Amino acid sequence: MEKLIINGGTPLRGKVQISGMKNAALPILVASLLTDDVCVIENLPSISDVSLTLSILEKMGCRVRMLTRDRVEIDSRPAVCGSSPVELVSKMRGSTYLLGAELGRWSKTKVGYPGGCDFGVRSIDQHIKAFEALGAEVTVDKGCVTAAAPRGLHGTSVYFDLVTVGGTVNAMLASVMAKGTTVIENAAHEPHIVDTANFLNTCGARITGAGTDTIKVRGVEKLHGCTYAIIPDMIEAGTYMCAAAATSGALVISNVIPKHLESISAKLEEMGVLIEEYDDSVYVTRSGPLERVNLKTLPYPGFPTDMQPQMGALMCLAEGTSYLNETVIENRFKYTNELQKMGASVRVVGHTAIFDGGAPLSGAKVRAVDLRAGAAMVIAALAVRGITEISEIDHIERGYEDLVGKLRAVGADIRLVVYNDTAMLDEA
Ligand code: EPU
Repeated sequence: MEKLIINGGTPLRGKVQISGMKNAALPILVASLLTDDVCVIENLPSISDVSLTLSILEKMGCRVRMLTRDRVEIDSRPAVCGSSPVELVSKMRGSTYLLGAELGRWSKTKVGYPGGCDFGVRSIDQHIKAFEALGAEVTVDKGCVTAAAPRGLHGTSVYFDLVTVGGTVNAMLASVMAKGTTVIENAAHEPHIVDTANFLNTCGARITGAGTDTIKVRGVEKLHGCTYAIIPDMIEAGTYMCAAAATSGALVISNVIPKHLESISAKLEEMGVLIEEYDDSVYVTRSGPLERVNLKTLPYPGFPTDMQPQMGALMCLAEGTSYLNETVIENRFKYTNELQKMGASVRVVGHTAIFDGGAPLSGAKVRAVDLRAGAAMVIAALAVRGITEISEIDHIERGYEDLVGKLRAVGADIRLVVYNDTAMLDEA
């Protein structure tokens, strides 16, 4: 097991290079299955969710070869439908994309029920609705999702009852080689939806409208392989922006698309953080106090739920009362209990967390209860004086490439220690 030990209170200064986006990498890696060909994916983040996805593809028969640290070649010609191992699939929400990709390539699929961060019930009813509209019969039984369209999938209209990232991606994956045209209404707009559509189009798909409410997919006979670079991770970038703000630091955050960061930048500016935008970087600094703010999460281009816990950490440090309303994910406030261990004054009422900021925080033993919750604990720990120990950091490793190295390079006093239940064993 591993822990992070952070001795906080040092302003972060310097430059952080952002990696490729987790939530684009996962669908794109899985979508390579649709090509029955060889794809080279670049700007791939070195995170455990990506390694897990590559392992699943390998177990399915794909030939996977790392060309460099962030470039992978996937030959999906030998892949076998329905062969993804349940024990791997059940560790990650992104494995839902196997359903759409298998259906798209073989008109049938069998995949274990997906896992991922524990936010309570994470239904896939909208994914199933899309598959059924395309002509598949779907059953969910004994922790497994099975679907088949013996007469093939046909273009149709899919209207989502709610905005779903995974559902939108899966509707694209399943329909890309269906007969005729599919129109996906009330589609998610996230940059990773656009990136996935761009990847598929580079492989010969005919998808238009990605990034808007309505996506049109004109079915093609076959997709070919391609070389494709994943977009930068706006959530990783936003996390370092919060870390700069929390520590009164000054960071240049490079390899970003500033347009994707607009809702995060706007909120941080409201809190008194100074942000300068350049072509592919942002400079983030703070000299005055952090000001209280109200915030509601929304689908893109609204404020991302994946930045909600990190903003919660900042709200603890701001003078006054901040209200943080979560509208996208049912249960994403578990981290507030961990912030309380550091002295934060926060209570959750329904879907809103209320932070009475400005109470003195101090280092404590806390847990990374999920991926972004872990990021929030890191931000709080970097800001406060004293030692914080963060356990269960495998959650953080799912989505942040070399967090320790990147933070150390900008002055953080952070260590990764490996331990067993009884004793510390080693220091990385
Ligand atoms: N929902 C349904 N039915 C569905 C699909 C979704 O009720 O069929 C509900 C979910 O339970 C949730 C909401 O709709 O309450 C939004 O779910 P969505 O489908 O948009 O999310 P997702 O595809 O499961 C992706 C990201 C999450 C991110 C959300 C929202 C991946 C692998 N995961 O999840 O990322 O929070 O979109 O933007 O792309 C993270 O990176 O930390 C993370 C959790």
